[in-house]
Amino acid sequence: MIVVFLGPPGAGKGTQCKLVCDKYNLSHLSSGDILRRERSENTDLGKEAQGYMDSGKLVPDDLIVAMMMKEIQTAGEGKDGFILDGFPRTIGQAKELDASLEKAGNKIDIVLNLQVDDGKLEERVTGRRSCAKCGGAYHTVFSPPKQDNQCDAGCGELTQRADDNAETVRSRIENYHAQTAPLVDYYTDKGNICNVDGNVTIDEVKVSVIAGVDKVQG
Ligand code: AP5
Repeated sequence: MIVVFLGPPGAGKGTQCKLVCDKYNLSHLSSGDILRRERSENTDLGKEAQGYMDSGKLVPDDLIVAMMMKEIQTAGEGKDGFILDGFPRTIGQAKELDASLEKAGNKIDIVLNLQVDDGKLEERVTGRRSCAKCGGAYHTVFSPPKQDNQCDAGCGELTQRADDNAETVRSRIENYHAQTAPLVDYYTDKGNICNVDGNVTIDEVKVSVIAGVDKVQG
């Protein structure tokens, strides 16, 4: 099964992907996480992506498509498929993905479109904290750690992403509307989109996400 998560920054894509990966035995491929890994390893791609990410702009399609196609080749190994989180994010990326999957005899089974009001996104993104050691994800208000700014697993201090500041978030939201939102019509025309209300609690969103995936799983 191939699942795509679509939605603006802070919509809850990463949160929901982590919750549903185990249930359906899927790998989680997050383009943002892969780019952050490239940056921490100081690769050429990481260095090239840095300026775009820190200013809230999209990394150019040719770099992203090459990076994701490489990851997708092995993504489903030992699993029942994979989830794409944050890719595709432009019509160009979506077309390249469709062509590549078709060539391999595959297709996207469902696109889960998390819909969240713009007014909620900034608070969600600026309050996000994570643990660099175990990957634990938190929010200062909606999903706080037991002890202030400390990982519940005892790993130590939580960190905040460099691009999770108010100014960059506003630019990311603007770029989402200009470059990524057109994908909603693109997938609506293809008939494989499932719109999910992402304004409600994490658990309530999860129920809708699972209902959507179950429908296509048969
Ligand atoms: P990326 O890392 O993908 O960032 P993003 O799309 O901006 O998405 P986020 O990770 O901010 O949000 P999310 O929807 O995953 O929210 P989360 O679940 O964490 O990309 C970063 C950058 O990389 C881009 O700006 C771009 O430069 C580049 N890039 C990546 N992919 C690219 C591509 N394909 N093409 C070009 N460039 C690319 O939730 C956020 C917070 O809210 C958390 O704290 C969570 O606990 C909380 N939360 C989640 N759900 C709820 C809820 N229902 N109620 C209350 N709180 C909630």
